[in-house]
Amino acid sequence: MNKTSSNTMALAPNPSNKRETVCIFGTGDFGRALGHKMIQSGYPVVYGSRSTQISNLIPKDAEVLGHAEAAQKAAVIIVAIQRQHYNFLAPLAEVLHGKVLVDISNNLKLNQYPESNAEHLAQLLPGSKVVKGFNTVSAWALQSGTLDASRQVFICGDDVEAKQMVMNIVRGLGLTPVDKGSLLAAQEIENYPLQLFPMWKFPIFLSLGLGLFFFFYSLALDVIHTYIYENNNFLFFIAITVPNRVFPVMALTLLGLVYLPGIFAAIIQLYRGTKYRRFPNWLDKWMLARKQLGLIALAFASLHAVFTLVTPLRAFASWRTSRQIISQALSNETVPLDHTNAWLSDSYLAMGMLGFFLFVLLGITSLPSVSNSVNWREFRFVQSKLGYLALILCTAHTMIYGGKWFLNPSAYKWYLPDIYMLSLVVPCAVLVVKFVLIFPCVDKPLTRIRQGWERKPRY
Ligand code: HEM
Repeated sequence: MNKTSSNTMALAPNPSNKRETVCIFGTGDFGRALGHKMIQSGYPVVYGSRSTQISNLIPKDAEVLGHAEAAQKAAVIIVAIQRQHYNFLAPLAEVLHGKVLVDISNNLKLNQYPESNAEHLAQLLPGSKVVKGFNTVSAWALQSGTLDASRQVFICGDDVEAKQMVMNIVRGLGLTPVDKGSLLAAQEIENYPLQLFPMWKFPIFLSLGLGLFFFFYSLALDVIHTYIYENNNFLFFIAITVPNRVFPVMALTLLGLVYLPGIFAAIIQLYRGTKYRRFPNWLDKWMLARKQLGLIALAFASLHAVFTLVTPLRAFASWRTSRQIISQALSNETVPLDHTNAWLSDSYLAMGMLGFFLFVLLGITSLPSVSNSVNWREFRFVQSKLGYLALILCTAHTMIYGGKWFLNPSAYKWYLPDIYMLSLVVPCAVLVVKFVLIFPCVDKPLTRIRQGWERKPRY
């Protein structure tokens, strides 16, 4: 880009504390909201508009001038107009030469144009320094003080100095700039607000698929099988019993799936003898979805805890208890307390509660506001060490709950294993392989690889 333009003076650092004037082209919703926020933050604002008549919607401390006049007053110009109208900027090329143009536009569809709006603007005005930014912040967020919305502002651009100026303004508004690199990243930044929970798609679809499978599995074994072979109509199990089997099974399976990709990654690194080769795409995607999978698992675990709380209130529970009492009364014998059973039942409940506590801790530390306040080592300690401990406790909770039931032929209705056995498959596989991975003869080379050592160095 041309650095010896007539407007390079505009990029000179400001020695005083006074904020530099910012020009905004466009007086639409976003232009007004941004201007308002800038004035609040101490920036003098001048609007460039076709009509210089001051509307009462425009912040009252702002100046409104024609485009060329307004542009001359500032080094940074926010282009708050739609891409279709960019052509009107072409005649202003001379006055915009060397200026920083901030493209804040968004599109209506993903990848609507072959090149991003910001790149289009840069092609139209090659003498200006185009920076993409602010398109991920809504006018509403700016007006409501950004307290209850994301504070991150993605920025990209080819001119480092220009990008720095825009990032300073972002900071001056109390927001957090995130440098996404060169203008090539603009397409991605423009697509960002059009995506609906992009990181959640895979975890949500996986959970839906697994949830439906486990629901029908439990329905078949706990309701339909009982109806056919025991002539008991337990259709009401659909309300609490079946969900309270599906929720914990989902929680445990998904928790296992959070740690499984780490196991695959370790095996791949050990096999390749280097950490410098990309993981396969499916593994990359899976690794990126771990936080979301963990949070969904936590939601299921919480539902399980809440559903378990109401167990004693159920008519079915009191019917079962009274049936046991009556049968003891009829046979005139009191069944003595089985201490082994009491131990097992207390232990599995204690493990469930401890596992749940750690699970909640993992969920809390994965929230950005909390994870930003701990260092990388602390974060890894919680997510890895305490995470594995949570997995061990929850797996033990389920194993002890199942006890010797897996040895009983009636546990295999229609020759199928009970649902709790299915929930143990992924976590047990993860824990067994993890156990092998922590053996010094495996752990040592893996740690070295992760520290940068290569079995066959490339250089
Ligand atoms: C089963 C309690 C946390 C996984 C059970 C059962 C109870 C229970 C009472 C037996 C349910 C029945 O008889 O149908 C609790 C309590 C928890 C807790 C009080 C903590 C507050 C967890 C967590 C997980 C989990 C965090 C996994 C991440 C399981 C599984 C079963 C189970 C897989 C077997 C489900 C079935 O086959 O019915 N839990 N639990 N639990 N729990 Fe938990």
